[in-house]
Amino acid sequence: MFRFIIILTICLNIDLFFVSAENVIKDCGWNNLEICDQNSKALKKITNFEINGVISLEYAKNVTIACENVTKCYGNLRCESAKLNFRYYVKKCQKVNFYNYEMDQCLLKFYDEVYQANYNCTKDFDYFSQNMDMKKVAYGSGKACFLKIANDVCSEKSITYLDTKYHNLLDILTEYNPEDHCHSFHDEWMARQCQPKMNAFLKEAENPTGSVSLYDLCDNVAECWYEHCYFNEKRLAERLKGLCSKFIDENLEDEYD
Ligand SMILES: *[C@@H]1O[C@H](CO)[C@@H](O)[C@H](O)[C@H]1NC(C)=O
Ligand SMILES: *[C@@H]1O[C@H](CO)[C@@H](O)[C@H](O)[C@H]1NC(C)=O
Ligand SMILES: *[C@@H]1O[C@H](CO)[C@@H](O)[C@H](O)[C@H]1NC(C)=O
Repeated sequence: MFRFIIILTICLNIDLFFVSAENVIKDCGWNNLEICDQNSKALKKITNFEINGVISLEYAKNVTIACENVTKCYGNLRCESAKLNFRYYVKKCQKVNFYNYEMDQCLLKFYDEVYQANYNCTKDFDYFSQNMDMKKVAYGSGKACFLKIANDVCSEKSITYLDTKYHNLLDILTEYNPEDHCHSFHDEWMARQCQPKMNAFLKEAENPTGSVSLYDLCDNVAECWYEHCYFNEKRLAERLKGLCSKFIDENLEDEYD
């Protein structure tokens, strides 16, 4: 009896193996899947390549091409493993391209310009909106305004990215997914909208003008963190709030020190 169960289990396993193998062949085809796997190996190879210092535009473009090869390849196949790989590489490439083309620096500078209202055109668009429909409108209708500022403050690499991948930037900024539980790249860049407030606080802290209260500036940042779920689901905002209280009437506090 015992032996029978073992044999049965083995048979079933083999059976299962054939079923899934058949499905892969029917939906994807081994050859197709293998080509995609080779493309993803090529991508891994160039992204693992040790980069000393500055990433050249040529290198960034090579990575973009390798990324497109991989996502296109998996995107054309219908089996489950290809779909999983497709989603994985879309996300991975989104992030890799973003950094390779220095979009992190570009976006932070743009946020600062909007916050400081240095350009009149930004008044017409709610770039910092937490409502994704409104944000799509802002970066859609307000694309020309965005690009005008980007041309002034962003690197040549970023301009290249914006020429060809503006839709990728839109995806990063506006595609909210509750299943990410506040840890996605999107959530991170939503929260980075607080950076200009942080900059204002740090600037005053380093070089006090005395015209604004450090506590208010600090509290501005904490409030902003509260509004954005990325910061460790509010725990970091809580801690910052505690640190800000240090700046309440700091002259008085100094006397007690
Ligand atoms: C980019 O790809 C081309 C063609 O494959 C290659 O000749 C060149 O060395 C690569 N450049 C960089 C910086 O990776
Ligand atoms: C991208 O795919 C094309 C066509 O399959 C191939 O010729 C090229 O070598 C691939 N490039 C990279 C970097 O994987
Ligand atoms: C922005 O608006 C202000 C006030 O309306 C105006 O004085 C200024 O010239 C405008 N700047 C630009 C660059 O249009």
